[in-house]
Amino acid sequence: MCGIVGYIGGRDATPIILNGLKRLEYRGYDSAGLAVLENGHIEIRRDAGKLSQLEALVNDMPIKGKIGIGHTRWATHGEPNARNAHPHIGSTGDFVVVHNGIVENYLTLREELIAEGTKFNSETDTETIVHLIEKYYASSGSLVESVKKTLAQLKGSHGIVVMSSKEPDKIVAARVGNAGGVVIGLSEDENFVASDLPAILEHTRRAIFLESRQMAVVTRGEVAVYDINGKDIHPQVQNIAWDPVAAEKGEYRHFMQKEIHEQVRSLTDTLAGRVDFDEGSVLLHELNLDSDKAKRIQKIIITACGTAAHAGMVGKLLIEHIARIPVEVAIASEFRYADPLVDKNTVVLAISQSGETADTLAAMEEGRSKGAILWSIVNAIGSQAMRIAEGCIAMQVGPEIGVASTKAFTAPLLDLYLLAVYLADLRGVIDSKQRYSLVNDLMLVPSLVGECLDREAAVLDLAKKFRHMRHMLYLGRGINMPIAYEGALKLKEISYIHAEAYPAGEMKHGPIALIDKSMPVVALTPNDPWYDKMISQIEQAMARGGEVIAVATDGDKLIRDLTDHIMWIPKTPWLLSPVVTSIPLQLFAYHIASLLGLDVDQPRNLAKSVTVE
Ligand code: G6P
Repeated sequence: MCGIVGYIGGRDATPIILNGLKRLEYRGYDSAGLAVLENGHIEIRRDAGKLSQLEALVNDMPIKGKIGIGHTRWATHGEPNARNAHPHIGSTGDFVVVHNGIVENYLTLREELIAEGTKFNSETDTETIVHLIEKYYASSGSLVESVKKTLAQLKGSHGIVVMSSKEPDKIVAARVGNAGGVVIGLSEDENFVASDLPAILEHTRRAIFLESRQMAVVTRGEVAVYDINGKDIHPQVQNIAWDPVAAEKGEYRHFMQKEIHEQVRSLTDTLAGRVDFDEGSVLLHELNLDSDKAKRIQKIIITACGTAAHAGMVGKLLIEHIARIPVEVAIASEFRYADPLVDKNTVVLAISQSGETADTLAAMEEGRSKGAILWSIVNAIGSQAMRIAEGCIAMQVGPEIGVASTKAFTAPLLDLYLLAVYLADLRGVIDSKQRYSLVNDLMLVPSLVGECLDREAAVLDLAKKFRHMRHMLYLGRGINMPIAYEGALKLKEISYIHAEAYPAGEMKHGPIALIDKSMPVVALTPNDPWYDKMISQIEQAMARGGEVIAVATDGDKLIRDLTDHIMWIPKTPWLLSPVVTSIPLQLFAYHIASLLGLDVDQPRNLAKSVTVE
């Protein structure tokens, strides 16, 4: 995960930035860099690889100054090398930028800038930001104005930190959307900027969290916050608890809420290093596959438990649809005793957040003992499921603390999509045009998720209305059927409300008997190929007096006429819709449990990692 640290004050900035970056190391990165203002000009050191390499570089060529910014990067646009590492500097050498997020329209911006004579030094989307700032500074003569104008040009969701030798007394930081959190640490005669609290906690416990569409001008003695139109904001200064666990929770009431909100960033990081948007290609070197090996695969069995198994169900549809390989989904506790039909041409693919779930590990062993190719998708680095697999896709979402899994559910959805495209490409079942379009759609996902998070208040209203229900039925079809299962699981795990999920077409074979006013129906009706079928199922439920809460796409008049209870989502390519439809359901479950005053992060009877059978 990308990390940002900035410092302005009376001390030497370089060690403070390096230490701050080290505190963010656990999030993962593949290159790092820093820029310090030394005697009025910007000096940059950056390199591929670990922070120790950057430290060695700084030891060889020291830089001293009292204001600076640094960054750890997970590559999305361009490979991890020194040239693509942040900070990025403009053509005049007067402006420098670090950035978290994806500039979705960077190709257009880049072409426009090149047509105006700008020379690019990297393949990154971030470099467009620094050139835009430089361009706007030439006409406005103000760093704040140029950052504002630049933000207005960028599509997507961003955290940006800027420094300039033209205005050497300040750092400007901005946040748009949820990809890049920005926290300002306040201290005596010095201030800090970071993407995450751990980077600054050794220096201060007083912090301001920028909200979306806010920017901060940070000087040595003062911090001013504005909205991105320039209106003054009086931000709340938070006093961060000394308890390191509570501190990590930052501005949120519960870890689950924090982790739900982290998804713009965790999904950006999921793509990091794995997609090349310029080439329209997917890179999953960690699977050690080539075209011959990929063509020998006759069947994939996805095995997992709980939330991870729901991700696997979406994966089945993605891999079968895109790569045309037969896929089965097997609950690990069943698979391990099922004497399954597995051979050397079968892939057993385990999905696990913890990588330590006993049933999942046993299912992997079962696969291995029968000669299967063993892969895994795992979050916890170094866990067993990661170690025993021949190939492992690491989730790259950072630690998940809330027992009810959220960000470790949406990440494997994207990992499985990447896997499907990768396999399809290696097996020659899609052409480069199809591949390009499938990869291109991925770029939109983080900001689509961000849009859903921005609508949290509407979901909270629905949670208030339905929090006293004792039962709910979740319905979905096709690629969103597993999201109905996952939505129901989230609700029951943390609110203790009985929630059942069904493939909507099965309603008439039993569950419809349950429908009345006290059994609301949550219906997933995004714009996917099963939409018409879902509409008729909603009509059937309503005809029996059921109240319907729909997850529907902006502008859907049909749904609006059918029900008043709608969680709106933005228009999304249907193969990626499960990532987006998950978000309001996570928020719905979270707010119901939180309104009921329950222990959201540690629900009764549940464990985060189930290491016994
Ligand atoms: C437990 C957790 C669930 C999780 C499941 C699988 O039951 O409470 O949230 O989905 O285990 O865990 P894993 O770590 O293998 O994904």
